[in-house]
Amino acid sequence: MILGATSSVAIELAKIYAQKEYSLQLAARSTDRLNPLKSDLIIRFNGKVDLFEFDVENTSHHHQFYNSLSVKPDIVVCLFGVLGEQDEAQHDWTKALQILTVNYVGAVSILNIIAKDFKSRRSGIIVGVSSVAGERGRQSNFLYGSAKAGFTAYLSGLRNQLSQFNVHVVTVKPGFIKSKMTANITTPAILTATPRQVAQTIVNAVAKRKDVVYSLWIWRWIMLVIKLIPEIFFKKLKL
Ligand SMILES: NC(=O)c1ccc[n+]([C@@H]2O[C@H](COP(=O)([O-])OP(=O)(O)OC[C@H]3O[C@@H](n4cnc5c(N)ncnc54)[C@H](OP(=O)(O)O)[C@@H]3O)[C@@H](O)[C@H]2O)c1
Repeated sequence: MILGATSSVAIELAKIYAQKEYSLQLAARSTDRLNPLKSDLIIRFNGKVDLFEFDVENTSHHHQFYNSLSVKPDIVVCLFGVLGEQDEAQHDWTKALQILTVNYVGAVSILNIIAKDFKSRRSGIIVGVSSVAGERGRQSNFLYGSAKAGFTAYLSGLRNQLSQFNVHVVTVKPGFIKSKMTANITTPAILTATPRQVAQTIVNAVAKRKDVVYSLWIWRWIMLVIKLIPEIFFKKLKL
């Protein structure tokens, strides 16, 4: 199951898993936009693809959403996310709340429900796509970054709790991705992954039951350096 299935990465992920003959459950807030992808996957890979309406902000609907699935998933990948505008969101609580809800609160809401089911079945893999932005707060995007930091810590705790129940949790930390989310931002090519690369990172991490993976790998080392900069210098940087 892919939650946030209209994401640029999700589309590539669905193609890879369809080619591997997995049955797909694609959930997004507008399934109309997924119909062309569904047709494509069925024609090219003879895939089994079901579409579901899912809004991560609509937390009161999450139980109903999951309980209504006639077939429960074995692997769940969370790909929803909102970057938002830091300046705008600092002055408009509605926008800030959206960033916090999509990237953290709503993710916790749906994953609590899925984790409970996986725990009782003693199987399953949960993949949370977080971000390197959650590793250290920066003035340009700390609302998004703080929500992703919360999500990363949540995934870490969930992995710790569920490992004894044979449920595995993967944390994916992309750096820049050339996707809808960054369409208006220029990012350095060498540090920017394609949606296909991130999708492949997810597939590999699931297959090898990795705990925490970066996409691209160089981001692990970039973030290590960023985290090591003493606060007295870091606070003076325009990042
Ligand atoms: N792009 C980057 O540079 C970057 C870097 C690090 C981490 N990430 C993370 O990678 C993941 C995938 O992002 P992407 O780059 O593929 O961006 P994307 O194409 O913009 O995908 C984000 C997805 O989140 C969905 N979404 C937003 N609000 C939602 C809601 N209320 N309910 C359900 N779905 C909702 C969007 O749905 P709609 O199509 O309906 O808007 C969209 O499909 C996200 O978690 C993102 O935070 C991205």
